[in-house]
Amino acid sequence: MKVENVLNCSFSSWYSLFKDITTKSIVIPLPQEFLEYLLCDGLVLPEQAVDVSSNENADEDNIIGDEIDWSTEDISTPVAEPPKFPDFENIVKKSIQKLGGCVFPKLNWSAPRDAAWISFDKTLKCTCPSDIYLLLKSSDFITHDLTQPFALCEDDENYKNDIHVKYDLVLRKWREFNPSNEFRCFVKNGSLIGICQRHHTMYCSFIGQHKDEIVADIQAFFYHFIQGNFPDKSYVFDVYRRDQGKILLIDFNPFGEVTDGLLFSWEELLGDERLNGTILSNGEDELQVPAFRYIEKSSGVQPNPYTTYAMPKDFVDLATGEDPQKLIDFLRLKVQEQGAEDSSDDESTPEINSLQGQ
Ligand SMILES: Nc1ncnc2c1ncn2[C@@H]1O[C@H](COP(=O)(O)OP(=O)(O)OP(=O)(O)O)[C@@H](O)[C@H]1O
Ligand SMILES: [Mg+2]
Repeated sequence: MKVENVLNCSFSSWYSLFKDITTKSIVIPLPQEFLEYLLCDGLVLPEQAVDVSSNENADEDNIIGDEIDWSTEDISTPVAEPPKFPDFENIVKKSIQKLGGCVFPKLNWSAPRDAAWISFDKTLKCTCPSDIYLLLKSSDFITHDLTQPFALCEDDENYKNDIHVKYDLVLRKWREFNPSNEFRCFVKNGSLIGICQRHHTMYCSFIGQHKDEIVADIQAFFYHFIQGNFPDKSYVFDVYRRDQGKILLIDFNPFGEVTDGLLFSWEELLGDERLNGTILSNGEDELQVPAFRYIEKSSGVQPNPYTTYAMPKDFVDLATGEDPQKLIDFLRLKVQEQGAEDSSDDESTPEINSLQGQ
């Protein structure tokens, strides 16, 4: 995978080519100060009404003797001056209106899917600028877009560091997608080699029952609208099958490990072996039907892969054994607690006994 392949999957690069077969969207260039705001630590939302002047004496009021009384601290005390982006914000507001009042936000490549847990309804549905800011600021996926978009590219490091990316906020008209109708499609050297259920941790009996129609619809869509029109030879595209024969393009992704292979491994996708699709013989020509993978049984349902993003990192590290040192510290703490409990039991028991004796 090369830098050029990643750049070709940037939303503004492909949207104009495939406008008619994807969701209506508006691309807004990100001003430098907004980029800096996204990258700085802390989370202070612009436009939040915080009356800084009324808190001028807040610290003095909370001091009792030489000590600060944190219990009386006004929780509305601002941690930093809220930033302001009035021009940018106006464009965002107007774009939301133009797109019907509800939008799905993303940057050049990624949506803040890992931050959905922070929103009111646990989705990426945004109706105002602050909904968007909160999601973008809370997402590691967005930070990845901003700081290391070419991390897994095999190009020269100096070349990668010199590339100046023009960042955009992409607002897409909100759609109520049924997750069982989303599919990820893998194209290698111009051929559609694999199709996979996009949300691969859920079982959906519908997919197995209609697998032939699903594959046929996606193949027809690929041949008519995608093949030869995307600048690369190998790439990944995501689709939504609204109904029989009705396919909507969702996104393009690079053909490489930076993209989740879902039920395919990148070893098999990149390897020389043919994937296990059906081969149809039409006289002398051979036509390969792509391999289609989906969850075939309801047993062994997997946890949602984004659940861990909603938990403190220490919990995740402990649960997965990622950081053995944390586990050792945790066990030490438990042993100490146990020790403390035992010794307090020893002290309290005579007291109870003596009370009982009275
Ligand atoms: N316009 C939309 N309205 C509502 N939901 C959407 C919309 N576009 C995408 N989604 C949902 O969000 C998911 C992620 O969208 P998208 O592929 O654009 O994000 P991404 O960050 O590029 O994801 P990935 O890294 O998996 O490619 C989709 O699978 C779909 O379920
Ligand atoms: Mg994508």
